[in-house]
Amino acid sequence: MTLIFGIETSCDETAAAVVEANAEGKLRLRANIVASQVEMHRKYGGVFPEVAARMHVETIHAVAHEALLAADVQPDQLDAIAVTHGPGLAGSLLVGVNFAKGLALAWDKPLIGVNHLEGHIYSLWLSDHADSLRFPALCLLISGGHTELVLVRGHGDYALLGGTLDDAVGEAFDKVARVLGLGYPGGPAIERAAREGNPHAYTFARADLGEERPYAFSFSGIKTAVMRAVQPQPAHSRRARGEESLREGNLRADVNIADAAASFQAAAVEMLIEPTLRAAQDYSVTAIWLAGGVSANKYLRTQLAARTALPVYAPPLPLCTDNAAMIAAAGYFRYAAGQRDSLALDVQPMLPLA
Ligand SMILES: Nc1ncnc2c1ncn2[C@@H]1O[C@H](COP(=O)(O)OP(=O)(O)OP(=O)(O)O)[C@@H](O)[C@H]1O
Ligand SMILES: [Mg+2]
Repeated sequence: MTLIFGIETSCDETAAAVVEANAEGKLRLRANIVASQVEMHRKYGGVFPEVAARMHVETIHAVAHEALLAADVQPDQLDAIAVTHGPGLAGSLLVGVNFAKGLALAWDKPLIGVNHLEGHIYSLWLSDHADSLRFPALCLLISGGHTELVLVRGHGDYALLGGTLDDAVGEAFDKVARVLGLGYPGGPAIERAAREGNPHAYTFARADLGEERPYAFSFSGIKTAVMRAVQPQPAHSRRARGEESLREGNLRADVNIADAAASFQAAAVEMLIEPTLRAAQDYSVTAIWLAGGVSANKYLRTQLAARTALPVYAPPLPLCTDNAAMIAAAGYFRYAAGQRDSLALDVQPMLPLA
């Protein structure tokens, strides 16, 4: 049995977890503690980096302690400490990486740096269908900061097929939710509101990226399209000067929020599905995997599954958004492959997956 302690502080969740692997490499989640800062950041309508880093400092020790207690594990039983070292907010990453280094030194355990995006992918190994995962697979990695199509050829072996040219899809959900006055974080709020709405009520122009970029995405246009459809029209002179701005919850009287949310969600999901199906076919993959915060979206899960004969796998709902269980899971496979990092491990805010 191998026990990995995971630590995640790349954005606004302070998280620690313990994952156990048996001799065959089958994973079991022993503890997963996430302290969310969402209430603190809600008043800013997004993550405030300086505040996020300070809150990690205040919380990390208690979160780590609670994870060990919940897992009923003593430090000397652990085999390694896995920590997110990028991508993410530099100040936030530093808190987790330095804390992990302290533990590795104090407990005399190997330190393993994990890519946050790889962590999102490995949340699938903590799902009920972990035994069905085969390579090559196509992963649609969709979160607050990323929208990428990744060909997963083996453990730790990735090729980036395409990604967003501008906004991430999670960012679009968050911004549209603000426009509609639905609050932060936007993804769950849009999904909830959309359940009561008509997805055909509004037609939002969808990005047409042409055949040269078959696996690319673009989400900045649809955000503007929603603003134009639901906000009072700015004076023509201001609009001509490009002075349209995001005015939170300032809607025209005839706007139906549920319809607007459902129509936006349908358009955004459609824009995710088309390049994904194209890539799945072109690369003859065994399955389509969803990962990242937006993979929690049930409408996306059902729409995608209805459009392909391939199996579609997604992480358990609580493991879609940021957590340390996924970091421990990815850390286990890196540990098994022999990765060991020194105490010189640094944060890499722009760390690419491939
Ligand atoms: N049910 C949902 N439907 C759509 N979007 C969702 C849902 N739940 C969460 N999201 C979105 O997921 C995003 C958060 O995901 P995640 O925690 O993986 O992102 P992040 O860590 O901030 O970004 P990254 O992983 O790129 O660094 C937010 O944009 C949120 O609105
Ligand atoms: Mg994330």
